[in-house]
Amino acid sequence: MSDKIHGFIYEKDSDAIVTITMDMDGPVNAMNGQYREAMAVIPGMLEAELESEQGLKGVVLASAKGTFFAGGDLKELSSVPKGAEEGQFRMIEDKIKAPLRRLEKLPVPVVAAINGAALGGGFEICLACNHRIVANHSRAQIGLPEVTLGLLPGGGGVVRSIHLLGLEKALPFLLEGKRMSPQQALDVGFVDALTDMVEKLVPAAKAWIKANPEACVQPWDMKGHKIPGGDVWNPKVVNTLAVAPAVNFRKTRGLLPAPERILAVAADTVTVDFESALRIESRGLAYLITTPQAKNIITSSFFQLNKINSGASRPADAEPSKVSKVGILGAGMMGQGIAFAAARAGIEAVLIDTTDEAAEKGKAYSARLMDKQIKAGRKTEADKSALLGRIKASADYASLQGCDLIVEAVFENVDLKAKVTVEAQQYLSEGGVFATNTSTLPINLLSEVAERPENYIGIHFFSPVEKMPLIEIICGQQTSDSTLAKAFDFARQLRKTPIVVNDSLGFFTSRVFGTFMDEGARLLVEGLDPVLIDALGKQVGMPVGPLAVQDEVSQELTRKVSETHRQLGVFCSLGDNSCNTEVSEKLIAEFGRGGRHHGGGYYEYPEGAPKKIWPKLYELYHKPEVEMPHQDIKDRILFRQVVESLKCLQEGVLRSVADGNVGSLLGIGAPTWTGGFLQVVNTYEYNGKTGPEAFADRCDELAGRYGERFAAPEIVRQKLEAGESFA
Ligand code: NAI
Repeated sequence: MSDKIHGFIYEKDSDAIVTITMDMDGPVNAMNGQYREAMAVIPGMLEAELESEQGLKGVVLASAKGTFFAGGDLKELSSVPKGAEEGQFRMIEDKIKAPLRRLEKLPVPVVAAINGAALGGGFEICLACNHRIVANHSRAQIGLPEVTLGLLPGGGGVVRSIHLLGLEKALPFLLEGKRMSPQQALDVGFVDALTDMVEKLVPAAKAWIKANPEACVQPWDMKGHKIPGGDVWNPKVVNTLAVAPAVNFRKTRGLLPAPERILAVAADTVTVDFESALRIESRGLAYLITTPQAKNIITSSFFQLNKINSGASRPADAEPSKVSKVGILGAGMMGQGIAFAAARAGIEAVLIDTTDEAAEKGKAYSARLMDKQIKAGRKTEADKSALLGRIKASADYASLQGCDLIVEAVFENVDLKAKVTVEAQQYLSEGGVFATNTSTLPINLLSEVAERPENYIGIHFFSPVEKMPLIEIICGQQTSDSTLAKAFDFARQLRKTPIVVNDSLGFFTSRVFGTFMDEGARLLVEGLDPVLIDALGKQVGMPVGPLAVQDEVSQELTRKVSETHRQLGVFCSLGDNSCNTEVSEKLIAEFGRGGRHHGGGYYEYPEGAPKKIWPKLYELYHKPEVEMPHQDIKDRILFRQVVESLKCLQEGVLRSVADGNVGSLLGIGAPTWTGGFLQVVNTYEYNGKTGPEAFADRCDELAGRYGERFAAPEIVRQKLEAGESFA
């Protein structure tokens, strides 16, 4: 007998085992309306089988898709309005949890046959099964990543994983949302067995059912069940729970409610009965679904990121392209990373520097990265020699012959860049693209020496290249659509996320990032304690405070960039970084303090000890009598960057809101739960208002107190008048 019930194929075999193969409408199985409809009838059908003549011996849950089950329907989740908590709670209880509970209470074994990724809600279904078997291949991932979306696993994921593994073992997965390979999931105890092939899964599940007909009671439903590792009185558990909130606060600065809620549900799970814990978990999820943090994360880190990666900013009618040979000019910090990233993606790379030795030194970087991976067991010696075989290090520009892309990454100097461009471009293949990795020089200026300016573009990588997921593609006035498409395709070939912007000093990312450091410098000059400035910068959610980050970037670089801009006659249009520049110039000229890698800057870096503020900084700037509300300091640090992002959108430097949000998240370090610097405006809450109106009010206030740089750009008023948000 075979039947399809709301996307679930229901088959009973001659051994009275029912296999339910999920084959829902759409590309993946997801916890949406169709799932709820199916699960409203399937447990009842299985219960009825028990009474049938043939009876029921077991149930196998399988998938007809490439993945097992994708989890919650994010579109549905992100559209839940504020104040809908009670309705969400009831829905989770009645439509998600109750059917799973009925499934796991069947008096026959239920087995999950996991053929591919089982994440979030998908893995929660598996946790409600008596046995979990996974096909061991590279695309099969297991995990409960809800926390990374600002949510918690509310389909029983928190409660069941703690009852299965104990609090100590389960908590890191719940709080970090780490994805596991099948082998890791087996090692931890999240799954019970692996098969080497997808085809063997269902037979293995059926064989297990036949061999274990009695294995139908979940550990937590057994008499005398105790949570592994003990209950709340176990000193280890007490310690974990006692320390976890502090550890968590350090990471989230109290701005992300999801981990806090997960901890609270976890603490309840070890103190109350199983059913009550499930209800507490539902309350937690119902609350988190309605928070702006979850909406922001889902909007930007999921939908907008996907939109960008799937080519929303790529000219649609350009032919798809692939780079097979890339040339890189300059084997310094950036060039060596670009060579590695290209070779990793299977692209032949020619790495050029002034001498063969310098080029080889750049290539050695790839060897070191591969050695680290070999040590960690992720790569083999054969992988290393294959990758190194794809990188040719040389001082001879003629080796660039036939490159379909050349990326220039020499020192940040207009004349040098012009010289190497002229020398290298003759070797480009027909229709090849010439790109610069400049971080501060105008593309329109650098393209002046290009033989074919329509084939010239900016491809701005971030450091360290092998790790940073973002690439900022910058179009000059003459850059053609086909060049943009080729640069975009190259970025995707490297598996990076490309945002596309128009030329402007500092483009988008450096321009906005500059305002972050500049506002730090302004607060310093106004007399605030530097320790406070950096602490509050982190409380906004930035990974590092504005002064500490300036030291990392180096005062020296800031000075050099401003000197170049002055020479070019474009000084000060870079997001008005005048204060930052003045302070950097003073620190270098009078005290030789060029930043962390120049012997110290705002901070001192004693060997073997934590960095500390350079004492003289207090003498120079600190005015203990100056008082400023902490909220103002935090908002100044955040709003400077948001206002600058809005200006980039208004001026057409940013071509889309998605580019701005994703660029600020992946390239500037905007806190994930803001959803990026433009999304901040949509969900900002102030004086009982929400969105652009609240944001504009606060801008007015800050501008009145601290200067016009905080005034809301015209585009905010336009959105307000149109009743729109930055979607
Ligand atoms: P770097 O100083 O580490 O490397 C520059 C390399 O260019 C050196 O190895 C140098 O020997 C080589 N070089 C100089 N003249 C050359 C010539 N005529 N032919 C071939 N090679 C030559 O500099 P870094 O940090 O790698 O920066 C390179 C470019 O990337 C700059 O335009 C910089 O603005 C940009 N960039 C830097 C980032 C960073 O975090 N360092 C981030 C993004 C962009």
